[in-house]
Amino acid sequence: MDTNKIIITIDGWSSCGKSTLAKQLAKELNYAYIDSGAMYRAITLYFLRNHIDWTDNLEVKNALNEITLSFEPNAKTGDSEIFLNDENVEYLIRDLIIADKVSDIAAIAVVRSFAVAQQQLMGTKKGIVMDGRDIGTTVFPTAEIKFFMTADISVRVERRFKEMFEKNPNVILEEVMHNLEMRDYIDSHREVSPLKKAENAIVLDNTNIGMEEQLEIALKLVNQFIG
Ligand code: DC
Repeated sequence: MDTNKIIITIDGWSSCGKSTLAKQLAKELNYAYIDSGAMYRAITLYFLRNHIDWTDNLEVKNALNEITLSFEPNAKTGDSEIFLNDENVEYLIRDLIIADKVSDIAAIAVVRSFAVAQQQLMGTKKGIVMDGRDIGTTVFPTAEIKFFMTADISVRVERRFKEMFEKNPNVILEEVMHNLEMRDYIDSHREVSPLKKAENAIVLDNTNIGMEEQLEIALKLVNQFIG
């Protein structure tokens, strides 16, 4: 193992640029990037497609036994993309239909232990940037650098709306806002590893700063640590 390599965790509210920063940091440091939210989204896609009753714990456990998740780099962009049982679902899981249900499914204890075990395995060699909701608190509580990202809700809604509008011009602003508020509430109030700032996490608020400026700040902190 390269002893200089560390684990960087990025947690925070929905749509505050976690994945953008995580991807940028991973590229700069030549680290792996793992989008843990994509795992919960892919599980949600499987449950919806297969009409799994997620209030039935046995049905959920059996369904999880049929699921294999993996990440592969996109041949053109190099960005890591998620595969559900060998099918690339990176784009399908971004749909509002998935966003509508994912927080309920991510709150199920067996779903979380299934995902967390795989996330921990991915970090055994370090050299990884992972973003999500419980990465600094539950997945990698001893990570060397932890960021907690936030931004005003109006800014987050506008950003997410623009992103979704490019793919689907029929998207409705109020629906996007309702979805973000609902997910933030469920994610931060669930019983099992709710979204919260790890005690030793560094807060990054990007309400008034751009992504490039934020990268500069984060990279400076990382480089200070790595030396
Ligand atoms: O980061 P995202 O919006 O793609 O995440 C989708 C959902 O998955 C989010 O609403 C909460 C859940 N999630 C979680 O519970 N724990 C994580 N580590 C990552 C995501």
